[in-house]
Amino acid sequence: MGSVLGVLVRGTTISKVTTRRTVLVVDFGAQYAQLIARRVREHRVYSEIVPHTITAEQIAAKNPSAIILSGGPKSVHVEGAPRLDPKVYESGVPILGICYGAQLIAHQLGGEVGRGSRGEYGRAQMTRIAGSQSTLLTADLPDVQEVWMSHFDAISQVPAGFAATALTPEAPVAVLENADRKIWGVQYHPEVVHSPFGAQVLENFLHNLAGCDTSWTMGSVIDEQIAVIRAHVGDKRVICGLSGGVDSAVAAALVHRAIGAQLTCVYVDTGLMRKGESDQVVETFKRNMGIELIHVDSGAKFFDGLKGTTEPEAKRKIIGELFVRVFEQHTGGVTDAEFLVQGTLYPDLIESGGTDGTASVIKSHHNVGGLPADMTLKLVEPLRSLFKDEVRRLGSELGLPDEIVWRQPFPGPGLGVRIIGEVTPDKVAILQEADAIVREEIRLAGLEREIWQAFAVLPDIRSVGVMGDERTYAYPIIIRAVTSDDAMTADWARLPFDLLERMSSRIISEVDGVNRVAYDITSKPPGTIEWE
Ligand code: XMP
Repeated sequence: MGSVLGVLVRGTTISKVTTRRTVLVVDFGAQYAQLIARRVREHRVYSEIVPHTITAEQIAAKNPSAIILSGGPKSVHVEGAPRLDPKVYESGVPILGICYGAQLIAHQLGGEVGRGSRGEYGRAQMTRIAGSQSTLLTADLPDVQEVWMSHFDAISQVPAGFAATALTPEAPVAVLENADRKIWGVQYHPEVVHSPFGAQVLENFLHNLAGCDTSWTMGSVIDEQIAVIRAHVGDKRVICGLSGGVDSAVAAALVHRAIGAQLTCVYVDTGLMRKGESDQVVETFKRNMGIELIHVDSGAKFFDGLKGTTEPEAKRKIIGELFVRVFEQHTGGVTDAEFLVQGTLYPDLIESGGTDGTASVIKSHHNVGGLPADMTLKLVEPLRSLFKDEVRRLGSELGLPDEIVWRQPFPGPGLGVRIIGEVTPDKVAILQEADAIVREEIRLAGLEREIWQAFAVLPDIRSVGVMGDERTYAYPIIIRAVTSDDAMTADWARLPFDLLERMSSRIISEVDGVNRVAYDITSKPPGTIEWE
């Protein structure tokens, strides 16, 4: 997100993520693995996601300090249900199975998983089994605790050598363990907030049972990356396209910390930026951080290129191509550059299946524009092991201001895809003003960190209104505000009515050419976050 630079760059990525020992989260489907990996990291333990097809040999090569088997949507009984290479159980590496992962342990090691009777979904009361000794559920935990369940099948019999140490009404084995073999399993989801003791159980597994290294902090990420960047870049020149978004800003700040004046940033102002955005980028990077910044004011070129175009994908293509051309023109002077910084994040890699660290990845599925055939820069991707929330923390640690660190995701094509139909300077001016009001009101209401994105959209219609004694015929503005964790799904934000009212009356009275405001109450799916 945030980057318009759809540049696929030849050569391999240089930023080997880390040499520290990792917890491997084996992904058995759905989106459980990412949340587990984030939770592990919250306990200062580095973690990576690996596909369930990974072999015992591949796991051994990574020398993990622990393995967590994620949940997944399948039943262990269906044909083709994912399995773990059985040799992994013999490796001696501590294993925690969660939900499907726990059932798999029972199923693969000789226990039994009963086909669902009723299943359990949502909150359940989990009770310690009287007389059992648990190393996972430590003595300071209550005998009865609330847990979050989502399962149909249930383990009915533990494998030989295992003990069942807790149960729920529909799961006779809610926790199973074999401390000698260092294998534990929980039927519930300790990674979600609805399991109030889940974090404690995970911490016990990671810190006490598996003895993982707990030194992974944002400070350590900065130190590690600085060393990696210096080692790879040497005394060569590096360029970075700033988009105004969080990811490229944090990546640039980190690279600058590592190599200082060897970094040149290029900020292409497409004329489709939010109000005040360009000034802020220049202020932060050039004035405050002393980064060499080439600021290219190329709005006129983009408006020219977009004239007469109304189809969303055609607009994206035009903007992307122009961007690459302008970027190239203005880095033309930096002839000795060998590296290009990109703010690729960990989820970008997971989604494109490129986590093995060798694939050159296009930053976002939305990115557009062709790659100049002769572009031969190598990529520097210092954020490729991080989740979005970690990138924000890193940015703060690097001294970036809140306005940049807490900036919402913004599409590469900018306001160009928030103006339905033809994009003109007049329409951009209207939308910039309305959008600034929406964002300011969200900030004043203290909702900035709860809302994933809040913005204004300018549709290609006009409607009749009355202002004073005059009939008006003007544009409506649509307000879009969503909550989300990752932009893959989103819900419309339940903004307070008085906040919506303030936005509406301010937009109509302060923005010329607008006489009506509507609020979009569509979730994703079926809608998308953007309107184009
Ligand atoms: P949708 O509209 O698909 O958006 O629900 C999901 C997320 O992606 C952002 N987005 C883009 N980002 N180039 C980008 O870099 C684009 O063309 C683009 N289109 C959508 C959107 O803002 C949301 O965060």
